[in-house]
Amino acid sequence: MFLSTDKELEKDLQFFLQNIVQNKSLHTRWLNTLAFMEHIGSRKIIKSQNSMTLDHFILQHISEEARHAFYFKNLAYKLSPSDCPNFEESYMIKGSSSEDYFQNIDHKAEEELADSPDKKLLNYLYTTWMVEERAIVLYELYNQILKNNKIPFNLNFILREEDHHLKMVIQIIQQKDPDFKERAIRLFKYERVAFTSLVNEWLTILAREEQFCGKTHV
Ligand SMILES: [Fe+2]
Repeated sequence: MFLSTDKELEKDLQFFLQNIVQNKSLHTRWLNTLAFMEHIGSRKIIKSQNSMTLDHFILQHISEEARHAFYFKNLAYKLSPSDCPNFEESYMIKGSSSEDYFQNIDHKAEEELADSPDKKLLNYLYTTWMVEERAIVLYELYNQILKNNKIPFNLNFILREEDHHLKMVIQIIQQKDPDFKERAIRLFKYERVAFTSLVNEWLTILAREEQFCGKTHV
């Protein structure tokens, strides 16, 4: 795993998620944000790959990301439909910044692969590698918090599928890119900064909402 363990970041995420699940409106908007990010993931693969050369794995990947988007959307909808009618900014938690995070790491991979003969495929694979590693860390923490708070759903099947995507893309990258180790170190360093900045934005929204509700942070 190229993602370095960062205790501070993990603590921030735990704090964020623990507070999110206790507020129905925030939790709905969080689930809607995750649905949006999964949808962006699925759309990005479709837009980036040539339909004529799509193989079994990539088609499976597209359909599973779209299914994850609907799973999160459905959970949000069951919790509070009036808080998630669509993906407009007011129905998410920093949805536009979450999309920026995705676009930024995709552009960084594009820059990194500018001279590669396989850049279209490798760009998709490296972006997936970074996003899936991050998603697994985030979803495992969230899953544990759902369990601790006795919330009646879990992310087990999503975690299994993300883990499969991750293993597959790493395997293909290793076959196709002889420079994958050095490249991955550079890209993961960039991803960490981008994700830390996104978490800080999520925390700012949480602080603003809690201030509005009369709560204070500890
Ligand atoms: Fe996913």
